[in-house]
Amino acid sequence: MEIKGHAALAPMAGVTDPAFRELCVKFGASLVTCEMVSAKALTLGDKKSRRLMSLTDMERPAGIQIFGREPQAMAQSVEEAMRENPDFIDINMGCPARKVVNNGSGSALMKDPGLAREIIESVVKASPVPVTVKMRTGWDKSSVNAVEIARIAEDAGASAITVHGRTRDQMYAPGINTGEIARVRAAVSIPVIANGDVFDAQGAKELLEQTGCEFLAVGRGAMGNPWIFRQINAYLENGELIPPPGIEERMSVMAEHIKALCALKGEYVGMREARKHASWYIKGIRGAAALRRDIGNLSSLQDLELLVKKVLDSAESA
Ligand SMILES: Cc1cc2nc3c(=O)[nH]c(=O)nc-3n(C[C@H](O)[C@H](O)[C@H](O)COP(=O)(O)O)c2cc1C
Repeated sequence: MEIKGHAALAPMAGVTDPAFRELCVKFGASLVTCEMVSAKALTLGDKKSRRLMSLTDMERPAGIQIFGREPQAMAQSVEEAMRENPDFIDINMGCPARKVVNNGSGSALMKDPGLAREIIESVVKASPVPVTVKMRTGWDKSSVNAVEIARIAEDAGASAITVHGRTRDQMYAPGINTGEIARVRAAVSIPVIANGDVFDAQGAKELLEQTGCEFLAVGRGAMGNPWIFRQINAYLENGELIPPPGIEERMSVMAEHIKALCALKGEYVGMREARKHASWYIKGIRGAAALRRDIGNLSSLQDLELLVKKVLDSAESA
């Protein structure tokens, strides 16, 4: 698998669908991963879960992320996932959502290293493509065990590990524990992808320097901001600080993104999902607050055209 650049797009449920992933690859994301998919649901033939893992040829290398707690179902789901021809399979050991951890999946697996090993071993055995593991630093501050789980993952045959530098208890705040990511980096020989709180190119460089990792993954920093990958690559490769795009490029990328969403999911669903993306794309621009109502009412591609026109007109008159 050829990996270009330095930053992957982190998987995000409700965000990293094919329309967004393709855009991120176009702007230089090293690799992308689909939204997490329930292994159990895949084995039961659930159509919605199958759709969640659909991959296109425009977004490579691309992985399918599965979550679950039954080694057998996890292994069986790989067979389903292979229909999409993924470049890798990622195991979710980091999701903090209550409905996932209450079921013993996601970051709850970090509390059970024996089961974590069994799951990784069975997925590796079932998978013809590399298997990666995405984790947090541990369950809570009294059980930080990313190094232990990373060693298990390496020993069980994983090809790379992503570490989000927070425990499950911390959810998304406060700041990340770069020291723990660095300890994982030092403890294993497989690639470690550092993750957490990268919102610009300088932040990416700092994270790599602080952790000793060669790669990082960007999640929230890419929302409404897919060009962050272009900025990170340029800064890491030749110290070039590319300014954020002007309003015209920003709006044309937003429109391209939303049109792709509609082509993928139909105009009704696409435009409803577009609302959150549009609010991220216009964050920080002049008059954003006044546009919030237009964004909340986006229902058709015609509404999208009107929104873009309004943004560009108000930028011109400013
Ligand atoms: C809306 C949202 C959805 C997420 N969904 C997933 C997911 O499906 N699988 C996963 O492993 N992590 C998921 N994450 C976690 C991110 O992949 C990432 O680890 C986390 O956001 C920290 O990185 P960041 O600070 O760059 O956002 C999600 C995060 C957000 C904000």
